[in-house]
Amino acid sequence: MSEQFKVYKARARELVAQMTLEEKARLLSGNGAWTTHKIERLGVPSIYMTDGPHGLRKSQGPSMADAVPATCFPTASALASSWDTDLLRQVGVALARESQANDVQLLLGPGINMKRSPLGGRNFEYFSEDPILAGQLAAAYIQGVQSEGVGTSLKHFAVNNQEHERMISNSTLDERTLREIYLPAFEIAITQAQPWTVMCAYNKVNGVYASENHLLLEDILREEWGFEGFVVSDWGAVHDRVKGVTAGLNLEMPGSGEVNRKKIIDGVNSGLLPVARLDEVVTTLLAVVLKASESRKPGARFDADQHHALARQVAGESIILLKNDDNLLPLEAGKKKKLAVIGAFAKEPRYQGAGSSQVNPTRISNAYDELVTLLGGTERLSYASGYDLEGVTTPQLLEEARQQAREADVAIVFAGLPDSYESEGFDRAALDIPEGHNRLIDVVSQVQPNTVVVLMNGSSIAMPWVGRVKALLEGWLTGQAGGGAIADILTGKVNPSAKLAETFPMRLEDTPTATEFPGLNQQAQYGEGVFIGYRYYDKKNLTPLFPFGFGLSYTTFAYSELTLSAPSIQDTGTLTVQLKVRNTGKVAGKEIVQLYVREDKPVLSRPEKELKAFTKVALEPGEEKTVSFTLKQRDFAYYNTPLHRWTVNPGRFDILVGSSSRNLPLRKHVEVEAGPAAVPALTRNSTVKEFKNHPKGKAVYPQLTKVFLGEPPAQTNVKRTPQEERARQKAEMSTMVFLHDMPVYKLVNFSEGRFTEQALNELLAQVQ
Ligand code: BGC
Repeated sequence: MSEQFKVYKARARELVAQMTLEEKARLLSGNGAWTTHKIERLGVPSIYMTDGPHGLRKSQGPSMADAVPATCFPTASALASSWDTDLLRQVGVALARESQANDVQLLLGPGINMKRSPLGGRNFEYFSEDPILAGQLAAAYIQGVQSEGVGTSLKHFAVNNQEHERMISNSTLDERTLREIYLPAFEIAITQAQPWTVMCAYNKVNGVYASENHLLLEDILREEWGFEGFVVSDWGAVHDRVKGVTAGLNLEMPGSGEVNRKKIIDGVNSGLLPVARLDEVVTTLLAVVLKASESRKPGARFDADQHHALARQVAGESIILLKNDDNLLPLEAGKKKKLAVIGAFAKEPRYQGAGSSQVNPTRISNAYDELVTLLGGTERLSYASGYDLEGVTTPQLLEEARQQAREADVAIVFAGLPDSYESEGFDRAALDIPEGHNRLIDVVSQVQPNTVVVLMNGSSIAMPWVGRVKALLEGWLTGQAGGGAIADILTGKVNPSAKLAETFPMRLEDTPTATEFPGLNQQAQYGEGVFIGYRYYDKKNLTPLFPFGFGLSYTTFAYSELTLSAPSIQDTGTLTVQLKVRNTGKVAGKEIVQLYVREDKPVLSRPEKELKAFTKVALEPGEEKTVSFTLKQRDFAYYNTPLHRWTVNPGRFDILVGSSSRNLPLRKHVEVEAGPAAVPALTRNSTVKEFKNHPKGKAVYPQLTKVFLGEPPAQTNVKRTPQEERARQKAEMSTMVFLHDMPVYKLVNFSEGRFTEQALNELLAQVQ
């Protein structure tokens, strides 16, 4: 435990010792929607918490619109596309300054659930389909926020990947999938950044509510990962409060008045809830409350202009150039082209998602006005709305757009998902954007060969027109300054440098969860196991519309000279990977270098490759830099379910480096040797083949096969014809097939006692 936290915990312990049972129970439930209870008698302060994650939503009344003005940064899908941990840290610092200025002690974010399906209603609030990327970005965000004395709440823990029946649905998955896909982002964020709080999810995980899940809240979160802070329920996620306290849920939000307070008191009085357990849960909560309260900065202010400028910069780093035929972009100001700006989103952008994360922005920039500013006036620009804000078009709107597109040199069509298509609280029904948007793009691209599409959406979408437009920008939900950032990129003031943190599939039918998303009737079966996102498209050999990790730039990059620090390593050691990346174009740019690991001969079905490291490198034209990554045990390991731990299967691993999950030009391999710790102990349930492949077991393996096969032929004097020998070998092979998958204890029965229990025990003793 960190020194600082120890001090708060000691003070909290002293205070808890002076509390009545009623006071303890009171503290464990909020005082209304956003604050904790005070205990004046003991000088226990209350703290204020609020959403999160990409801006502050401090409510001033019942409606979302009543929130205090705050900077709306790009939402998580956009932030993640920057692949830039430093940037996430800066956003975190800015969010914390706004929190301090509004006397908010805890910001409810970041959200890091995996994007299991593109239809997930809250995908816009989550980072990625990949746990390493999501975890590292979350860690940086948390470090940024907490460096300014404001706490975070890492959410929603865990396996919360659909909105449908979100308060009751049961996420059913196997242990390996839980460990390899759904937990690592949390693990990285917690072990690297120690958020002050974690928010448990609404749903059940393997039949147990996340808010009552001892395995998740205690065994994994605190015992394994060393989480020091408190767990808060998602708003309304509490079911059986006593079970929750027992499992490690500290704070119930929002407050339930006397309802659950009474249950806790009754639980203690009836002996169901031990006082020691109650004290522990209250102490942890109180320690964070004390720390958060003492980190207040009374009188703090934030610079709204500066934060708006930061939001513009961040959006510029998050907008992805997905297509740019004939280098149509950038539209350099000097070339004096006539531009038709088409689509209502150009003037009324969709820049954030709906639900608890909805910020009341300090201002909003739109792409049309920003283009006017950058191009020095309206002279070269025309505008047609093309559709209404629900995405509905009319023959008249289409005709107006067609006219303007025809008269211009370039048409820029703004399209995407309206609010009603994507929100917290429900999942999307399809990948499609509104028919009105599709028709508009069709009409424009028929008359204007130089058509650019700019998308505003929180998750991947279908693009039936993608082959008919020359350039494509994925803007995501760019936040309040997105209009400026889009204009910066269109005009080349900013060189795009973002890449996809989620795959864009060709069709919904191609997605990993096509047959079962969302899980209906309160059951979400994670049948696709570890194969989500690019892991699935790789395994099925499907070509996505745009692959994970993909994004273009106005310059080009070349990769070379991959070197590994050693041809082979022990799994306890490290491997240093180096390579060179050069800017081979004419403008400065940034490249996101990605490293994936592939196991050559896995013992169980593993993804073709997995992202293990990445970095973003800024390069002037012609400049070359060396990039270095360090890999360790976990980067080669899989989760070994029978052993309940991470294990490296010794052998060859490929190291793949490049610019996207489908463009990895550099490749080398390393042999990873696993020490005895990685090898499971042999028991009477181990199969005969496990003895064969085991460092100790292989010595006694002949004794096992002998039980069935007798002495090896070389040691007998029997003479056989070639036919007899072939027949003998065939029979031996069949026996071996049968024998290899047999647990060794069965040899006693099958040998009719020739191989005795005692012989078995002696043999097992030899291999321990
Ligand atoms: C959401 C959380 C949010 C909380 C408070 C819940 O409905 O799931 O993400 O932090 O409300 O607004």
